[in-house]
Amino acid sequence: MMATESAHVRDATTHDLPALTAIYTHAVEHTTATMDISTPTLESQGEWFRHHDERHPVMVAELNGEVVGWASISAWSDRCGYRDTAEASVYVMPERHGRGVGKTLMKELVKRARLIGLHVLVAQISTTNQTSLNMVRGVGFEDVGTLREVGHKFGMPVDVQVLEMLLHD
Ligand SMILES: CC(C)(COP(=O)(O)OP(=O)(O)OC[C@H]1O[C@@H](n2cnc3c(N)ncnc32)[C@H](O)[C@@H]1OP(=O)(O)O)[C@@H](O)C(=O)NCCC(=O)NCCS
Repeated sequence: MMATESAHVRDATTHDLPALTAIYTHAVEHTTATMDISTPTLESQGEWFRHHDERHPVMVAELNGEVVGWASISAWSDRCGYRDTAEASVYVMPERHGRGVGKTLMKELVKRARLIGLHVLVAQISTTNQTSLNMVRGVGFEDVGTLREVGHKFGMPVDVQVLEMLLHD
């Protein structure tokens, strides 16, 4: 692994949408990190961004003023009884993988979720995405189980590992 660089994490604004979209586009087109298949556009990401708010923030990580990754706390369900549960996502620019940016974002995400007063964070990760599984287990997510063949991408079925973190005892 390369040397860890100290990323600065802040809340995202609409000005970050081009960088955010570029990072997400790579994951959509080349990985099963997301089950999105259509290439994102500024418009589709803008729509996604507008679905976030103070309880469901989007954050970005900067290195030397450049946005190199982002994290989101997204509603897990629109059913009211699930309001204190959210889904965690982190994406880092491929050129910056393995330098601690993802872990920094994930730790900030968990800290933020606690401040917001959320009760549970859920992570849903393709079982082949070992880096992401290591990352979330490393910050304290626990395995719930595997949803077998719930996804389909690149002509293959995709198994999804569900993990959760209880934020308050
Ligand atoms: C998953 C992802 C966010 C990790 O970000 P990153 O900046 O590369 O990861 P970090 O360098 O912060 O490492 C975090 C942890 O991941 C694991 N990890 C990192 N690189 C790894 C590798 N090559 N192989 C296995 N595990 C690895 C380690 O557990 C590491 O923690 P440690 O340093 O305490 O050992 C990034 O690889 C990414 O954007 N991938 C594509 C999108 C994605 O999969 N998102 C997750 C969906 S929620």
